[in-house]
Amino acid sequence: MSNPSTGDSSGDSIENLSQENRHFPPSPAFAAQANAKSDLYAHAEKDRLAFWEEQARELTWDKSWETVLEWNSPYAKWFVGGKINASVNALDRHVAAGRGDRVAFHFEGEPGDTRTITYAQMLADVSKAAHALTQIGIKAGDRVAIYMPMIPEAAVAMLACARIGAVHSVVFGGFSADALLSRIQDADAKLVITADGGFRKGAAFALKPAVDEALKGKHNVEKVLVVKRTGQETAWNSDRDIWWHELVDSQSSEHTPEFFDSEHPLFILYTSGTTAKPKGIFHTTGGYLTQAAYTHRVVFDIKPEKDVYWCTADVGWITGHSYVVYGPLINGATQVMYEGTPDTPHKGRMFEIVAKYGVTILYTAPTLIRTWMKWGDEFPKAHKLSSLRLLGSVGEPINPEAWMWYREVIGANNCPIVDTWWQTETGAIMISPLPGVTSTKPGSAMKAIPGISAVVVDDNANPVPNGHGGFLILDKPWPSMLRGVWGEDERYKETYWSRFKGIYFAGDGAKLDDEGAIWLMGRVDDVMNVSGHRISTTEVESALVSHEAVAEAAVVGAADEMTGQGIVAFVILRGGIPHAGGEELVKELRAHVTKEIGAIARPRQIMVVAELPKTRSGKIMRRLLKDVAENRAVGDATTLADPNVMKLISEGLNSSKDED
Ligand code: WTA
Repeated sequence: MSNPSTGDSSGDSIENLSQENRHFPPSPAFAAQANAKSDLYAHAEKDRLAFWEEQARELTWDKSWETVLEWNSPYAKWFVGGKINASVNALDRHVAAGRGDRVAFHFEGEPGDTRTITYAQMLADVSKAAHALTQIGIKAGDRVAIYMPMIPEAAVAMLACARIGAVHSVVFGGFSADALLSRIQDADAKLVITADGGFRKGAAFALKPAVDEALKGKHNVEKVLVVKRTGQETAWNSDRDIWWHELVDSQSSEHTPEFFDSEHPLFILYTSGTTAKPKGIFHTTGGYLTQAAYTHRVVFDIKPEKDVYWCTADVGWITGHSYVVYGPLINGATQVMYEGTPDTPHKGRMFEIVAKYGVTILYTAPTLIRTWMKWGDEFPKAHKLSSLRLLGSVGEPINPEAWMWYREVIGANNCPIVDTWWQTETGAIMISPLPGVTSTKPGSAMKAIPGISAVVVDDNANPVPNGHGGFLILDKPWPSMLRGVWGEDERYKETYWSRFKGIYFAGDGAKLDDEGAIWLMGRVDDVMNVSGHRISTTEVESALVSHEAVAEAAVVGAADEMTGQGIVAFVILRGGIPHAGGEELVKELRAHVTKEIGAIARPRQIMVVAELPKTRSGKIMRRLLKDVAENRAVGDATTLADPNVMKLISEGLNSSKDED
């Protein structure tokens, strides 16, 4: 990043302050072998619906569709009349084609236990589990809550539900009993699938007690199916609880699947709202699977016979649904699945796993990349990472300097980076480079993938010109779009389709650079208003991270008598980089932001902290930092990954107020 932009964007919904001039085209060798070539854009453009039909035909359907799309805004139906089974697409068709011996998962438990599971084994396991679910009385359309550690049975449980048409609702294993109960209630789940516990940070944690606690509330859960993972002491209600191994293992490993309507609900996934009640985002089958598989093929350039693919997301998030379970398995990929945390037993654990399995494609989140930066380069450098050929990022804007670090230190300047923008609601990737085509810019998700349309607009829904910022909208329906908010139709319309009447508004700010590339600028709710300038948190954070001493930054707009809001920054320093300390460093950082993006964005106050408050999926909770910056009691922090962080931040504030 360098040079403040020359184009005047003041008055925009969000201003465009930074400019990036670095370009990284794919190597000719990568481009030549890529799954997606540059003609894919024009091909999709020519006839969008025919293009999506082509993608759908890559899947196995029991009966083909009659109509590609029925669109009554905001309600979409894709591949209408088609019949399909998700688990057949993930498993049976590979086994039938003679690929049963291919490894589906290299599982690595946190304590170091491993399992190698082939496609044939997965199919047998899912078949047994499907029989077990039927025996318990689960039928098509019933909802099943899955509350599991990151172990293969989590994927087996999801696919077994899908196989019999039951709707899974995966609840992240780090959530509390209360959070679990509210999700069980909202979906009216009949069954909970869980485990005694899992391994995290070097110890066994318990899950089953949270289920017991949750089920003291009001619900219609009849049975609880429990995988034995840790072997720890587990309280038991013999009328209700069933050990997975006792029920599942003895079932037949042959199961005849039924096929369901393309629009049959596949899953509900709750977005962990930071303030309001979580929304049950629900997805259906045919369109979702089509886009998950297509994006996995073209964005990750998967070569199922050769690649070892590792997406580090937990199945409790949408990324774990689309890019651990459905997309990769439909494409017959070989994956790594890791149960534990990145720093157990040491900070090089994940690099060790890359080297051990020869991982070729790594897909992770900026929060982890910045954590690696904070820990220092010696950890990745101690392991052989040369098997990597493609790197991906998702979940938050990736700051240009974090992107460069990812490229240089993890990718040895040798791997295209795909920064993929999408949401639980979109179901699959929407904006991303194509790795063999796009000349990428550090920090930009570049443009909508073939078949998808994304536009940056102003307050009146008019597209903004290059060099300007605004709101990100998706103006054409797409196959994996959410079909609603479970049981809350008004909320669906209100949340997504009302800011711009009849158009999907993602809630994110974005800008187009001078060449029309899309830069995500964070949630519009976080946009700061300084003396009438609307400044994105992302740009100021990226300016801070571009200073060599900074690994991670979070900024918020705090009430300010003079300027409306003043910018308050929280920064985490990088390991192993010498720098000025205290006041000296703060001064330097403020000057650095001024140089990078201009005086208007210079933070009023900068605080050096050891940690930032994050949700369980790694997103920074700026709302809580704003409470600190405005000297308020910190608000509801129940969705924080580490509840102690706010205390640490509030205590450690030897803040350094701007006096000039
Ligand atoms: C943010 C995760 C910038 C964005 C798949 C979005 C991103 C929200 C990116 C959805 C990215 C995700 N660049 N921002 N590449 N990817 N986001 O539902 O604000 O957990 O609206 O889905 O994350 O988060 P969710």
